Amino acid sequence: MLGAAPKVWAPPGIGVTAARAPGDAHVSALTSSNGPTSPNGPPAQPDLSTAVFAASGIGVRFGGLVALDDVSLAVGTGQVHGVIGPNGAGKTTLFNVCCGFVRPDAGTVLRHGKPVRNLRPHRLAGMGIARTLQGVGLFAGLTVAENVMVGADRHRRAGFAATLFALARSDRDERALRGRAMAALSELGADGYADRLPDSLPYPVQKRVALARALAAEPDLLLLDEPASGLSNDEMTELGELIRTLTDRMSVVLVEHHMDLVMSVCDRITVLDFGKVVADGTPDEVRDDPAVIDAYLGEEATHS
Ligand SMILES: Nc1ncnc2c1ncn2[C@@H]1O[C@H](COP(=O)(O)OP(=O)(O)OP(=O)(O)O)[C@@H](O)[C@H]1O
Ligand SMILES: [Mg+2]
Repeated sequence: MLGAAPKVWAPPGIGVTAARAPGDAHVSALTSSNGPTSPNGPPAQPDLSTAVFAASGIGVRFGGLVALDDVSLAVGTGQVHGVIGPNGAGKTTLFNVCCGFVRPDAGTVLRHGKPVRNLRPHRLAGMGIARTLQGVGLFAGLTVAENVMVGADRHRRAGFAATLFALARSDRDERALRGRAMAALSELGADGYADRLPDSLPYPVQKRVALARALAAEPDLLLLDEPASGLSNDEMTELGELIRTLTDRMSVVLVEHHMDLVMSVCDRITVLDFGKVVADGTPDEVRDDPAVIDAYLGEEATHS
């Protein structure tokens, strides 16, 4: 049975194997990939007061189903923090709690050590947080550049009156917004699509545009839910390299099903199974944890 999870941040308990719905987790990544190396050794586990972002003791119920039970994680400055687990483990539910889409029944979200009250998606940008969703979520009626400008919009300085009367400052803001959007598109190699409508583009390009929109907000915390879904292996490798380049200016929470991507880019990883934390640590620690191998082997056994 699962070990009792702590009420405040502490190493999690140990879990057991469970058969799952089919998924595409790569158990081989548990034994073969290497995480990012640091000349100073493995990254330290941040505590709740020093973490850029943390969740403590999160519980979520959907009717009679316990989707999350006493889940905690703490994200350090400039770290990529992975959240993995088999299908239905609770990854997206945790992501939605972190974004304010789902209000937890128990627990607290903390930003820079302070509890966040009344977290809501529209407040994220003002808190320096940007996100991408499991799909792409672009506005079909706006061009690629306009979509990304929506992301950069938290930097717009002109108020309603200036916009209404089309004063010079509003024009300057518009140009600055477009400049920021084009810079984000260029970083993702998507600036050539600026004037296209999203639906006219291949899915992997749409995903890059969605990521550019998040980066254009210049967050110091980026939340990514399944950014690798629908990408080829080469595209996934590029995505991993890009995520690592972001860490000089932001922390990243990466909710992802692809174990090999997570193992190669994350500094620390939280593993969920049946809504509980079954392991938390560096890629090496997680890779060697029997509870993690059991969870994924259970999934593979069902799949084969
Ligand atoms: N809105 C909802 N209403 C009822 N049950 C839900 C809801 N959202 C999620 N669940 C259930 O909660 C559990 C966790 O789901 P969640 O989507 O968080 O898992 P996941 O780890 O993201 O899975 P996947 O790898 O398939 O994306 C599942 O049993 C799911 O069916
Ligand atoms: Mg999910």
